[in-house]
Amino acid sequence: MVLTEKIFVAKGASKLIGATRLNRLKPGIFSMIGQLKEQVQASGIDVIDLSVGSPDMPPPVHVKKALIKAIEDDNNYGYTLTEGIPELKKAIAFWYKDNYGVTLDQDKEILSLMGSQDGLAHIYWALVNPQDVVLVPDPGYPIYYAGALLAGGDLYQMPLLEENNFLPVLSAIPKEICKKARLMFLNYPSNPLAATATKEFFREVISFAKQHEIIICHDFAYSELSYDGYKNVSFMETAGAKDVGVEFHSISKTFNLAGCRLGFIVGNRDVINALRLIKSNIDYGIFRPTQLAAVAALSGPAECVRQNALAYQNRRDALVNELASYNWYIQKPKASMFAWAKLPSSFSSSEDFARDLLMKTGVAVVPGTAFGDCGEGYVRIGLVQELAKIKEAGRRMGEFVASIG
Ligand SMILES: Cc1ncc(COP(=O)(O)O)c(C=O)c1O
Repeated sequence: MVLTEKIFVAKGASKLIGATRLNRLKPGIFSMIGQLKEQVQASGIDVIDLSVGSPDMPPPVHVKKALIKAIEDDNNYGYTLTEGIPELKKAIAFWYKDNYGVTLDQDKEILSLMGSQDGLAHIYWALVNPQDVVLVPDPGYPIYYAGALLAGGDLYQMPLLEENNFLPVLSAIPKEICKKARLMFLNYPSNPLAATATKEFFREVISFAKQHEIIICHDFAYSELSYDGYKNVSFMETAGAKDVGVEFHSISKTFNLAGCRLGFIVGNRDVINALRLIKSNIDYGIFRPTQLAAVAALSGPAECVRQNALAYQNRRDALVNELASYNWYIQKPKASMFAWAKLPSSFSSSEDFARDLLMKTGVAVVPGTAFGDCGEGYVRIGLVQELAKIKEAGRRMGEFVASIG
């Protein structure tokens, strides 16, 4: 009781005020879209939700079987090691070598996470001092901003523009910012941009990081979602990557296990050690059946991963073609589970567009500005519904655009 009063200061009868650091955060866009969706649904319009980044397809059967078997074993209900069980670390090392040709020391260069989000949020507590600058992509996945701000860091938003293939121009980052910068976040294939990186770009990043003593964090959550024979590039594959940084992974999108909450970080052992110290103070490891399901996923047949990507590729084609039939031409993404759609010139505000589209047609997408100022003029469309619904959403969006433009 005393503790509660110290932490929260009551204002009026019922309002509680939290710590001042909360002032650095913005309310999440998804709760706002959620409220609007409810209103639209209540008015009788059938909503097609392409706003969330949560996979709609089931996990592979062999992974579910491993999970069920592990759940039935009474020995699997205790705390586990923060590290990740040895079987999991071994499976991660095997998977990395097999997929990307990268050799990892399973004790020093791998740490399991409660979803990659856990690591993305806590890495700042391990590495960033108040007033250190964190270089973040704009547009970028929101935790990069929120995590840095909660740890007291200051943001420098690197504009990701179409004319630069949505890659940051490192030479444009001012010298005084480079001096104060501690960490850079990158994410390819990118959420929300669906953009991809090249080996040349990662080479440039590594020499920039060495020159300015900046740690690189690469979020590779969409590593296995790529189309038309294209294969995503791992930051870790680039010579020198382990000297300067780490890569984050997730089983959420690769194996449709988002609710299971398991990810991992690999790479530079000092960075991993720092995060390990934080995590050993704040959690007791991931539910053992979840870890065993991840072992089955990572060491099982790769065909299910290919089929999963193919399903997204078919959805992408359906969306792009449907919009094109209404003269709305958007870039065909090579990877990720999103399309980053440039609005027709008759629309100037992505928030107005997303709101009006939802209210009039029931299709929910995310305004580009939810991911940073450079997202203005775009919306993120998630390929997270079955093919027929994607086509229907494309038709409604096309008709909406045609009715205004
Ligand atoms: C770019 C990116 N990174 C990380 C995550 C978090 O994934 P998880 O915590 O489920 O591993 C997401 C989730 O949508 C994402 O889009």
